[in-house]
Amino acid sequence: MVKVGIDKIGFFTSPYFIDMTELANRRHEEPGKFLIGLGQKQQAVIPPTQDVVTLAANAANKILTKADKDKIDTVIFGTETGIDNSKSAAIYVQALLGISKHARSFEIKQACYGGTAGLQMAVEHIRLHPDSQVLVLAADIARYGLQTPGEATQGGGAVAMLVAAEPRILEIEDKRSFYSDNIMDFWRPLYRRDAVVDGHYSNNVYIDFFKQTWQTYQRDYHCNIDDFQAMAFHLPYTKMGLKALRSIVNQSHHPERLLAQFESSRVYNACVGNLYTGSLYLSLISLLANSETLQHGDLVGLFSYGSGAQGEFYSGRISEQFDRRPLKTDMEAMLSKRQKLTISQYEEMYQAGLPLSGGDKQFDTASDHSPFILEGRHEDQRI
Ligand code: CAA
Repeated sequence: MVKVGIDKIGFFTSPYFIDMTELANRRHEEPGKFLIGLGQKQQAVIPPTQDVVTLAANAANKILTKADKDKIDTVIFGTETGIDNSKSAAIYVQALLGISKHARSFEIKQACYGGTAGLQMAVEHIRLHPDSQVLVLAADIARYGLQTPGEATQGGGAVAMLVAAEPRILEIEDKRSFYSDNIMDFWRPLYRRDAVVDGHYSNNVYIDFFKQTWQTYQRDYHCNIDDFQAMAFHLPYTKMGLKALRSIVNQSHHPERLLAQFESSRVYNACVGNLYTGSLYLSLISLLANSETLQHGDLVGLFSYGSGAQGEFYSGRISEQFDRRPLKTDMEAMLSKRQKLTISQYEEMYQAGLPLSGGDKQFDTASDHSPFILEGRHEDQRI
């Protein structure tokens, strides 16, 4: 069978962040609750000039060449914070980046699972059409509201993945397990900008779905935990993945190895926060860029979770051609260039609007130097 998987991967987030110790102090919480209890050090603050379209366009812009843009025949956009109830975010990105007009472009939704649904659809498409390439985008802005329990688990950003035959990063195996049920742990009705969440219940459902998919995967593919060199998780906050790993790590003869790899897999998520559909893939980037022990051919398990709820466990092997250095350099350059906001500046930005869109507190669009920004709306059209 032809090898198919992630050939290129790119990440983009806001140029602004806050420090979680400062947020804890302002909210009269022990900093240890956010830093250790949730495992978050910093949080991306998304300005009004960035939405899922611009975030994804900025991420994809970093990885695509002209030849890629001509070859891509499918653009799949996974998001749960889309910008239109009708038109897909994929069409906007396709046009902004000059991707072939002969591509099929659409958006998919199942909470934080949408990126994985897109990736697996892309893999199946390439298995049938090995000469083509698919662009998969996973972008979201996680908002729970100021001074809510969810506030410490906000964030945002985008991951862009080019899926192709003979991939140079991760070969995705044709092995996966699913689990789904109609559950109200986290949702966002169309009339709301911030999510509704039953936080502690959502943690329990996440663990339950992880165990369900992990057991099914082991049973169906006759494997055990020590076949895996590392596991990457959907990380709504990084402690969540640690809880999931701890729930099975005693099955391993080398628990320290998996726990050490987990530390590599959460470095960037701890500095960005939740990006819903993109969180698992930011964690994968973090693992790939930061693990000094992962080798070519090593097996990585991936757990994807989307509230509501859908879980999937699947696996991939590190490609022979994979080189972690450029990924690490790019990630560190981007994260270190960000500007730290005070908590007051963050609160103001959180509530600001764009000049062309009206609103009381207006944001200065010239302060965001990202390649793609949203300037506002005119006659209900994005600028
Ligand atoms: N030092 C160290 N740890 C401390 C501490 C201190 N001083 N004080 C508290 N802690 C620990 C607590 O013991 C707890 O750890 P455990 O969960 O391991 O017991 C942790 O810090 C958090 O404390 P609380 O549970 O009291 O925190 P909370 O009630 O204020 O809210 C939350 C936590 C429920 C995760 C909330 O932030 C939330 O609702 N977030 C949004 C929902 C979410 O992310 N759910 C995840 C699963 S759903 C999903 O994955 C989809 C998605 O992306 C949303």
